Amino acid sequence: MCGIVGIIGKSAKEVVLDGLANLEYRGYDSAGIYLNDLKGRGYLTKATGRIKNLRAKMTQDEDGLVGIGHTRWATHGKPTVANAHPQFDETNRFYMVHNGVIENYQELKAKYLSDVNFQSDTDTEVIVQLISKVVNDKKVDTFTALKMVLAEVKGSYAILLVDNTIPDHIFIAKNKSPLMLGLGKDFNVIASDALSVLDQTKTFIDLADGQVGDITKANYVLENLAGEKIQAKPYEVNIDPNAASKDTYEFYMLKEICEQPSVLRHLAQYYLDEEGKPKVDQEIVDALIRADRLYIFAAGTSYHAGLVGKVLFEKFANIPTEVGLASEAGYHFPMMSKKPLFIFLSQSGETADSRVVLQEAIKRNIPTLTLTNVLGSTLAREASYSMSLEAGPEIAVASTKAYTAQVVVEAILAKAMGERTGDDAAKNFALKENLALAAEGVEQVIFSKEKIEQLAKEYLVLSRNAFYIGRGIDYPLALEAALKLKEVSYIQTEGFAAAELKHGTISLIEKNTPVIGLINDPITADLMRGNIEEVVSRGASVITIASKKLAKPEDDIILPDIDYYLTPLVSVVAAQLFAYYASKAKGLDVDKPRNLAKSVTVE
Ligand code: M6R
Repeated sequence: MCGIVGIIGKSAKEVVLDGLANLEYRGYDSAGIYLNDLKGRGYLTKATGRIKNLRAKMTQDEDGLVGIGHTRWATHGKPTVANAHPQFDETNRFYMVHNGVIENYQELKAKYLSDVNFQSDTDTEVIVQLISKVVNDKKVDTFTALKMVLAEVKGSYAILLVDNTIPDHIFIAKNKSPLMLGLGKDFNVIASDALSVLDQTKTFIDLADGQVGDITKANYVLENLAGEKIQAKPYEVNIDPNAASKDTYEFYMLKEICEQPSVLRHLAQYYLDEEGKPKVDQEIVDALIRADRLYIFAAGTSYHAGLVGKVLFEKFANIPTEVGLASEAGYHFPMMSKKPLFIFLSQSGETADSRVVLQEAIKRNIPTLTLTNVLGSTLAREASYSMSLEAGPEIAVASTKAYTAQVVVEAILAKAMGERTGDDAAKNFALKENLALAAEGVEQVIFSKEKIEQLAKEYLVLSRNAFYIGRGIDYPLALEAALKLKEVSYIQTEGFAAAELKHGTISLIEKNTPVIGLINDPITADLMRGNIEEVVSRGASVITIASKKLAKPEDDIILPDIDYYLTPLVSVVAAQLFAYYASKAKGLDVDKPRNLAKSVTVE
């Protein structure tokens, strides 16, 4: 989603452009930068498409000691140069970049700005024009005007604002969209993601909602909208910048798929002791055990990991578990049990849809636990408890290693709960051994990637649509596999409970429709073979992915045997590789599928 980078006190152009390039993975459709040299010269450049287009539009001598930049993922108005940020006011005095959505921008525009000539369709321009108007009409300083305007704004924002009459300040504000201040020696940086400016500093302050700041090269003042000063404690970010590099891989997605064996081994070490007993914060286990029902909320791939989590919690922790789409639950809150506990699954920890549910849970005093890959993220900070997914930075828009990490952490929690309550299934669940087997299994799947590439080219690339089908634990896996294939290859793919096809959807199967059958469930394996026959006899081109003990010699991909409940950890990797190779063979930008963003901070 949109990205923000700003710097003050240092040659700004390259820091901002490189910082924006580090955020490219989040998905965007236009970009822009404003630089001011503090000698009266300001430079505004905006371009559609990639950062390289923006760079190409800039002349060599354009630089400044202050700079703000933005990658935009269009919400209000098309991805055009006029709608790209920075947005500016009629007098060309104020320049602003903004992430988020201003919900009442139409009202504000109608109420205060009917005489203003707008250059864009954006909600952001309304805010910058209004700040300009307040400064002129009310004769207040810029920081005061920013606070006055934001007091009337409804919505989400991370904002950087430069006033070119006092360009040695960057004014900042945050509500519901991430923003952090990075502290340097005689310079300060501001960014929506620390990853973008880790080459500048490792010391950060996360702004909280409702905070505003006045940043100079050697100082910073943070306040709330009422003007009360805020003391914030800086912390050190502990991420290896190399962990976010592409290494020798052509795409991040393949790198991240191939990192999964190490993620599985690392999680086993991190969350299990020598004997395989979970090492989980006792407070978290206590809170989970106090609940009479678990409710998992998430979106996209994380939602699919939640569906596997339901099976794990019900089997090993013996607790009824519901899984909901955060976007639906936020405004249609489900009926609760007496002692619910909410679990939020989120790679980024910033998904706005999940945050709405979290806020509602906080209002209702429901205990909450976030499982996320970004520990300082909003969902982690605001929940009662949080746990790290330990997957390392995930850059490709398509989530891969975060999914496997989510399933593992759910399995660890389920075992921890079940062992505490004396559940036999949990005690006998050889998680440590199975994670080692899963890591080896994933390696074997990765080893067979040429075969998957060849099958993807033969069956998928020329097809407009495809199906994944499965039963039991393969059903949620089919949903995830289908999402992966469609999001990166643009092949319309549906994940189906195999037996459901005959209740309607089988009418879509025609000659050569690709159907990928997942066969990991021993209870329904024979029925699954029958469902596969049904589509074969209607002309489908079938690829089968089966666990070794259920496999037949003619199956295409044979997976090593591991505990049934953990089979998604291995079979998902085959699906990820099918998606990767289908996208690559079609010549698509695998890491940045069209219209998508890595961190979805709008509802
Ligand atoms: O950061 P989150 O896990 O909360 O993100 C949720 C979804 O937006 C995300 O999983 C999305 O579906 C990915 N593009 C899937 O690959």
